[in-house]
Amino acid sequence: GGPHGRNANEAPTAPADPAQSVSVADLRTASNAPGTLRHFELTAGHQTVTATSGKKVEAWSFGSLPGPELRVDQGDLVEVVLRNRDIDEGVTLHWHGYDVPNGEDGVAGATQDAVLPGETFTYRFTADEPGTYWYHTHQASAEGIRHGLYGTLVVLPTGGVPEQVDATIALHSFGSAVWLGDSDLPRTEPAAEGTTVRARLINTDQVPRRFRVSGADYRVVAVDGRDLSGPTDVSAESLRLPAGGRMDVVFTVTADGVRIGTDASARVAVGFGPDGSDPLKLASDASAPDLDLLSYGSRGALDAPAPTRDASLVLDRLPRFLRGVPSNAYTVNGAVFPHIQNIEVTEGDVLRLTVVNRGWDTHPMHLHGHHALVISRNGVQATGAPLWVDTFDVQPGEVWQVLVEADNPGIWMDHCHNLEHAEQGMMMALTYR
Ligand code: C2O
Ligand code: CU
Repeated sequence: GGPHGRNANEAPTAPADPAQSVSVADLRTASNAPGTLRHFELTAGHQTVTATSGKKVEAWSFGSLPGPELRVDQGDLVEVVLRNRDIDEGVTLHWHGYDVPNGEDGVAGATQDAVLPGETFTYRFTADEPGTYWYHTHQASAEGIRHGLYGTLVVLPTGGVPEQVDATIALHSFGSAVWLGDSDLPRTEPAAEGTTVRARLINTDQVPRRFRVSGADYRVVAVDGRDLSGPTDVSAESLRLPAGGRMDVVFTVTADGVRIGTDASARVAVGFGPDGSDPLKLASDASAPDLDLLSYGSRGALDAPAPTRDASLVLDRLPRFLRGVPSNAYTVNGAVFPHIQNIEVTEGDVLRLTVVNRGWDTHPMHLHGHHALVISRNGVQATGAPLWVDTFDVQPGEVWQVLVEADNPGIWMDHCHNLEHAEQGMMMALTYR
């Protein structure tokens, strides 16, 4: 990071700076010379993890929960060697939300074979899009991610972020244990009054989760790794993150401190506060309405590209028979993977995608390799900051319209990030002719 991208592991440069004493996730020091090769090694394996609560979790991990944070500077060349020690199901690395070249996308069966025990695979990509991302296995992914095969990826913008503290808070549930970052218990990070904080919120669960910030006004400055234009202060609203979604929020620490909690567990929260404060005691309002991102921030001069191609996806849940046994299938246009017709584009196309949910479940639709610009939900046009997402939560009865620019040739999965649904059929491909 530049002068403002400091974090806990860097040598102090301004002794009074509270940023030097805060470590929320595993904050790796980014290099100070962008454009350099950043080499990481991740080994997947079985691991018994003892939580701070004393609870034991039989995890599959990349060495820690979450896996090591890969924190790099914009422009760096990222090289990650994945090694599988003993995960019989096989592993891969998918860079969730980071639009890598197709060969680096980590989809077993599409862009590579799964990495089996004893094998390795090396990923390389240029980190040219600053933002908050995460990585996870894309082989047996429902089970693999739930057991802990995930970690966080942060690409710092050139010059660093303006906040003094930069914390990654990744929510994850293992049965009844809930992790926020690296802990399953509440904790407070010391931060003087007036300290500015960026909290990178990540939902690694398979269902939507709400985060709540108490004790200060805050603003949402980025969604799914893309900055929002003209974010304004909000105070009471809940932040509803779809499965896989991210939001960066910024706030200034107050005398009583600031608490970030989640509806996944009332007991798990992170506080930021000065000595003597007890931000974990702050109440959070469970009835607070969700912040409506479609009307949040300022639109500016948005030049939405004109669509050159249309496709529609009707999501549903239909009974079916597998070898004579009745089961449920999550369907797209009446079919299940691999029988769903691909969405075909030509490079340069602007795809207008209409997604309709006719079922009773929420479907967080996730498109690999591309971001989608939200046009409307239920016929109501988006009026806020241009909202570029890689996952959007299509709730029962909803209709979403998004635009996708076909600028990254390859075979790309488009699937529900409730990965049980994906495994039961709700998965398809976007392909280039
Ligand atoms: Cu986060 Cu296809 O996945
Ligand atoms: Cu779903």
